[in-house]
Amino acid sequence: MEYVVIIPAAGSGKRMNAGKNKLFLTVQNVPVIIHTLQVFETDPLCKAIYLSINPGERESFKLLINQYKINKVKAMVAGGKERQESVFEALKAVRETDIVLVHDGARPFIRHSTIRRLVEKAEESKAAIVAVPVKDTIKRAEDAQIMETVERSGLWAAQTPQAFHMSILKQAYESADRDQFLGTDDASLVERLGVAVAIVEGQYDNIKLTTIEDLYFAEAIIKNRLSLPEG
Ligand code: C5P
Repeated sequence: MEYVVIIPAAGSGKRMNAGKNKLFLTVQNVPVIIHTLQVFETDPLCKAIYLSINPGERESFKLLINQYKINKVKAMVAGGKERQESVFEALKAVRETDIVLVHDGARPFIRHSTIRRLVEKAEESKAAIVAVPVKDTIKRAEDAQIMETVERSGLWAAQTPQAFHMSILKQAYESADRDQFLGTDDASLVERLGVAVAIVEGQYDNIKLTTIEDLYFAEAIIKNRLSLPEG
């Protein structure tokens, strides 16, 4: 039931346009990365945290981790140009686990109850991700011309965390590296191996802070947290 988590935190946050790593921006006066780390610090099932960071930000991360007394960070590895490289570098450092989770540093609102359901599912089925049913109607378009309205039933928006048996995630990353395959999430690398990946339904408030307006949503989510149903 215990797990280790890899948290990629080496992005440059270009789409946030903040002039710095978006994970250092604050929500309710606490840096985004600290909100995320605190979830895992306080989860008794989490044995260790592996962070991938931009080496130029090592001291800033260290200072924050000390200030907020995050004790589970086992290693801070140098990330890469793509998220996939950042996760792969951290994965090479992980040793002591059967179940490994990958969770974006930019998703601070994941709940312990969802993590628990995810880990249980990954234990029985080797690979599982948190996702939510797509609410919008999805169009496929070329040059802003609609080509197709995609059937919505059966569509899910993938989130993190994503959880795997360690040996399978390693195999998936090594295979992607060999074939120079670049996926947009961790599960897509595992899917390539022909391994079935299960879905655990999560919450819509597990947002990834990506663009500037997400900071307003984040403030609202935190303020309303206690009145939202636990899921
Ligand atoms: O850019 P995006 O928000 O999709 O990135 C998701 C997560 O991956 C973020 O926490 C970001 O810091 C991390 N990342 C990384 N290395 C990269 C790009 C993104 O660790 N090269």
